[in-house]
Amino acid sequence: GFVIGTAVAGGGHHVDQDYPDPFTSDRRYRKILARQFSSVSPENQMKWEYIHPERDRYDFETADAIVDFAERNDQVVRGHTLLWHSQNPAWLEEGDFSDEELRAILHDHITTVVGRYSGRIQQWDVANEIFDEQGDLRTEDNIWIRELGPGIIADAFRWTHEADPQAELFFNDYGVEGVNAKSDAYYALAQDLLAQDVPVHGFSTQAHLSLRYGFPSDLEENLRRFDELGLATAVTELDVRMDVPESGQPTDAQMDRQADYYRRALSACLEVEGCDSFTIWGFTDKYSWVPVFFEGEGSATVMTDDYTRKPSFFALQSPL
Ligand code: XIL
Repeated sequence: GFVIGTAVAGGGHHVDQDYPDPFTSDRRYRKILARQFSSVSPENQMKWEYIHPERDRYDFETADAIVDFAERNDQVVRGHTLLWHSQNPAWLEEGDFSDEELRAILHDHITTVVGRYSGRIQQWDVANEIFDEQGDLRTEDNIWIRELGPGIIADAFRWTHEADPQAELFFNDYGVEGVNAKSDAYYALAQDLLAQDVPVHGFSTQAHLSLRYGFPSDLEENLRRFDELGLATAVTELDVRMDVPESGQPTDAQMDRQADYYRRALSACLEVEGCDSFTIWGFTDKYSWVPVFFEGEGSATVMTDDYTRKPSFFALQSPL
């Protein structure tokens, strides 16, 4: 039951960068995607701004294509994401809605999107990045929490569960690899919601790592404490970025360190009983979000731009 996944590129910042959408235009990309992975996560295509571009219009085209592709290739799908502060359409963020309307909008969105793929999504990231670095709820930048209060989080899980009773429902965030203020906040919230019988089933850590900051050596310990709460755990967006030398070519030492991070992340997940889903955030540097979002850093995935396998690719085939 253990799956190895990747984010599926297409849409997102690639559009701004004027790349063709690899999911539809890059045969080699699709071939590797089909062969090497047993789980896929739409990198952008199920986010609000893509799937719900206008108040009364949904756009399911690419999301449908990804789910169909996954099924044809015996892959499971991680749905991403339903309640988030980022990548929301302007009509939502800038609209002037009453609390009642806003609740109805979220309920309608969840019912429509989750309902459409009901039975075909293994895990949903219901709530994404709801805490800040200090472990405080994002009461300012998360429209749902700001306008409707923290109770909306439990409602989002309930509504998702109603729309797809089979899917495993997750909290997902970055910076929660180790035991820290932010992961403590999830730990407390998860206990609280479980005590109220809210259908929360999992806690996942994105794991956008950087050679600058070191490997979170308490990853396994952290996953284990959520496991002991009875939650599934997962690594959902692993990549390992680095300061790329001026030549554009990372050094062998950098490649080896990166491979070590990939291997250790996989090993930590394998060590924890209920950690059955391990996903990297794209498999080729060609379409990686990293150079776009992190100045000076890159080479974060397991294959180069031309699909040459890096040591990190092989590291995932030989965990500790
Ligand atoms: C990123 C995508 O990779 C980019 O293409 C997009 O422009 C921005 O979002 N945490 C998440 C992901 O939960 O959805 C983000 O994906 C990376 C950080």
